[in-house]
Amino acid sequence: MDKLIIEGGKKLKGDVTVSGSKNASLPIFVATILAPGINQISNVPFLRDINTTIKVLESLGADVKGKGDVVRIDTTNISSHEATYDLVKTMRASVLVLGPLLARFGKARVSLPGGCAIGARPINLHLKGLQALGAEIVLEHGYVEARCKRLKGARINFDVSTVGGTEHLMMAAATAKGDTVLENSAREPEIVDLANFLNFMGAKIEGAGTDTINIHGVSELSAANYEVMPDRIEAGTFMIAAAMTGGDIKIRRMKLEHLDALTFKMQDAGVEITSRDGVVRVKGPKKIGSLNIKTRPYPGFPTDMQAQFMAMMCVADGASVISENIFENRFMHVSELQRFGADITVAGSTATVKGVKKLSGAPVMATDLRASASLILAGLAAEGTTEITRIYHLDRGYEAIEKKLAALGANILRVKE
Ligand code: EPZ
Repeated sequence: MDKLIIEGGKKLKGDVTVSGSKNASLPIFVATILAPGINQISNVPFLRDINTTIKVLESLGADVKGKGDVVRIDTTNISSHEATYDLVKTMRASVLVLGPLLARFGKARVSLPGGCAIGARPINLHLKGLQALGAEIVLEHGYVEARCKRLKGARINFDVSTVGGTEHLMMAAATAKGDTVLENSAREPEIVDLANFLNFMGAKIEGAGTDTINIHGVSELSAANYEVMPDRIEAGTFMIAAAMTGGDIKIRRMKLEHLDALTFKMQDAGVEITSRDGVVRVKGPKKIGSLNIKTRPYPGFPTDMQAQFMAMMCVADGASVISENIFENRFMHVSELQRFGADITVAGSTATVKGVKKLSGAPVMATDLRASASLILAGLAAEGTTEITRIYHLDRGYEAIEKKLAALGANILRVKE
């Protein structure tokens, strides 16, 4: 297994280009199941989770060429309607194939995703929504068995804002008979990207990005080509890297409007963030101000940036309170950050961070995707050497991050363990 070795203290300088969005690519790949034909998806990041999604599509009978930047997905010969446990347990987003398989073939058998490091992450709202569309759902032997001759449009109201649930039901309802309204939908930009792709396929979806999405069911869809949006979480991670190292970087191909909540908080903390001709410049201040954040569904502060923001608060001037309101166990980076000398106390879903003058490099272990990013950020700002193991977590969601950071002047190396 690989590990990362970082010599901290370098100010990041120069330009970096953001890759395509993992969390937009995954549902867009799954949406290709809805119709036979050849789809060309571009700006796809080279990531483990993309490879896993390709394996899932191939296990169903799709023919996939390429792993990124351009991926050609031919779904003409999809014949299986089963997604097995070993694939779904590797990446829970695979469970999204259930709705599209059901919509296209009238039946599907998909493994329940099981738990995950950051929380229970049930899919009850996905299943409730599919039942509202007329699906018969049976849970047995750890699998969801679903059947329905033809899904019928319905009015669905989500108890909580769910990104995957909204995406799942948008896909399932696209070819349902009649109209579907999704109320209290999630509003993430990745949902808008999926809706755009579905409309390119011939769907009639309006309101994506708001909390009410109207889907007028069409009889059939066709394959389409699409360019995936930039990854806003990767972009936000680079913004924090510049802030924490007192650097001055330019970030290309990101959409700053996707990160308002993070940007406003960072500007309050004294970080200079400006945007011109689609290039975002981030300049770190001498001292970062301490701030409180609460993670919320979009457009609130993104839970996927909580660990990275906590790393920044570890070297801020004063105390910060971070409350994680989306997942029940998303503080696993705390004990690893404490190994750098960070002063953090956790009480339930709230962490209080007291900024320290300097972090000191240490051997640490990645526990989940965004936690790994926070450890890299701490290593970049720390004095001395940091070693990060189990970085397979990182490779799920960041394309060649050590190369991109090295190009910005960081002293970071990936070595075989
Ligand atoms: C998506 O996960 C993202 N993953 C996550 O990013 C992200 O953290 C999350 O949305 C929230 O923004 C992908 O897009 C592949 P949810 P998802 O359904 O869809 C509860 C990363 O780091 N819930 O919005 O699984 C759930 O338990 C990953 O890239 C139910 O109770 O998240 C959670 O508390 C991590 N029942 C809350 O809703 C359901 O049926 C939000 O989950 C569904 C969800």
